[in-house]
Amino acid sequence: MKLNKYVTCLLAAASLAAPATLLAADATVVAAIPAPAPAVADLKAGIPEEKPCLIAGWENPRSVCVAHTKTIAATCLICHGPNGRSLGAIPSLAGQDKAYLVAAMKDFKSGKRESTVMQKYAVGYSDQEYEDLAELFASIK
Ligand code: HEC
Repeated sequence: MKLNKYVTCLLAAASLAAPATLLAADATVVAAIPAPAPAVADLKAGIPEEKPCLIAGWENPRSVCVAHTKTIAATCLICHGPNGRSLGAIPSLAGQDKAYLVAAMKDFKSGKRESTVMQKYAVGYSDQEYEDLAELFASIK
């Protein structure tokens, strides 16, 4: 930013006076400025078109939903152990079958499965979030 202001000043001064030495100095400074970051369209090139996903009803790029899932998952680790590998009596989530995890969350939510704390956690998330969390934990080997 500072450099850009400096260049703008230099160019303004050059347009007033325009001595050849000053213009040459401009060219050196301009050459030293890093190329602008590629446009978003360039960055997306090569990445397959991904289906948008919903967080609290809002459409988001899939990558945002992945980050969202990891953020929620981090809160589960407080009890379920680092990376979902339990260090104690609370069951591990890591490597567990995806469908089993989703069913467990739904059963906690409905109260079909008794729990001490899990119903309170389960009610806070959508079915899509169960799916995403279950997929994440199932993928940890
Ligand atoms: C405060 C501690 C705590 C937190 C936080 C927590 N859990 Fe649990 N979880 C438990 C306990 C304790 C059980 C055993 C059932 C019960 O008593 O509630 C359990 C059981 C489960 C089970 C059943 C596992 C099995 O093998 O049958 C699943 C699935 C589960 N939790 C998922 C999650 C997910 C996903 C999160 C994060 C959204 C989470 N838990 C956050 C304490 C916690």
